[in-house]
Amino acid sequence: MFKNVKTAPADPILGLTEAFNADSNPDKINLSVGVYKDATGKTPVLETVKEAERRIVEQENSKGYLPMTGEPLYCARVQELMFGEDHEVIVEKRAATAQCPGGTGALRVAGDYLHTLHPDSTLWLSDPTWANHNTIFAAAGVTCKKYAYRDPKTNGLDFDAMYESIKKIPKGDVILLHGCCHNPTGIDPTPEQWGKIGELLTQQGVLPLVDFAYQGLANGIEDDRAGLLELIKKVRQLAICSSFSKNFGLYRERTGALTVVGESAEQVATVMSQVKLRIRYSYSNPPSHGAQIVAIVLGDKELRAQWLEEVADIRNRINEMRHLFVKTLKEKGVKQDFSSIIEQRGMFSFSGLTKKQVDRLRDEYSIYIVGSGRINVAGMTPANMDRLCEAIKTVL
Ligand code: LMR
Repeated sequence: MFKNVKTAPADPILGLTEAFNADSNPDKINLSVGVYKDATGKTPVLETVKEAERRIVEQENSKGYLPMTGEPLYCARVQELMFGEDHEVIVEKRAATAQCPGGTGALRVAGDYLHTLHPDSTLWLSDPTWANHNTIFAAAGVTCKKYAYRDPKTNGLDFDAMYESIKKIPKGDVILLHGCCHNPTGIDPTPEQWGKIGELLTQQGVLPLVDFAYQGLANGIEDDRAGLLELIKKVRQLAICSSFSKNFGLYRERTGALTVVGESAEQVATVMSQVKLRIRYSYSNPPSHGAQIVAIVLGDKELRAQWLEEVADIRNRINEMRHLFVKTLKEKGVKQDFSSIIEQRGMFSFSGLTKKQVDRLRDEYSIYIVGSGRINVAGMTPANMDRLCEAIKTVL
């Protein structure tokens, strides 16, 4: 079993953090994995999370298994945050949610569902997309293809090309869309474009699977669901994989969800019975801690208001770093135009750095960036900005 086994390649994102942790340079900078750092370079535990944890310690009275689809109260909070409290899919009970171990866990359950129930359907991924999308769905046995997304000339969305490639997707296939803060580019469609995408998908008979992992990090909790809500106006069936890793800082607590929106309560109940089956054979039922935190914070008026402020702080700091990065590069006389990074949203942007330049930054300066040139803006701080920009100037 263990003889003649070859070493697996390092993960393109998490493998870099392993290398970063092993690097002894005290000035090292990690702009690879999508983890938020505050201005002092620390990944903080939110105050609201700490308060919820205190309440859990006092009030939790059982460590029994959760249902396969998780804690119902958490699932209800997930829906309220994504759709808004009185949204029709909630009122009409056309949405059902399963608590999952992180957004990744939710994507894998979706992949298992797709492969076993619709083995002939292809999943269409944006070009580019999060590196792990390909891996998750390939592991589940789902065939993946690409649709056009980014315009390399403008480092913006090539909406016409995206629209044209969606037109070619056959009926019965599935398209993965990023709800906001597209990973890895930081480029999102406008709400109007979301509406057009939704109309086209309905015409084509293509089901959207929305990866919604960054709500609140672009322009605000409500603004960031605008695209999803436009989509729901046009399509009657979709699935959403969401996560609280980023907006609650609950990375290691693996707190996510798979939500199915269908045409009727009966339809989603049937779909969820199949989802449950896949959960049972993968991990049986989800971990509880992160979901309890989310349910407590979102269910308490004061804590929720405080949490909204904490998310705003995260978002504002990232957007400040976008400006400072572009300004510092300019001040250093870098000719390459990085200004599109200011318009982009969420943790990531495409820097346009080549693989060779990325390798030099790692080997010569202990600056870690994903091979595609994706940078985690949330890893920049006022203190590391000068060194970072100086190094980028040199490798350019
Ligand atoms: C990222 O893209 O860096 C994050 O979503 C973390 C991960 O699991 O890759």
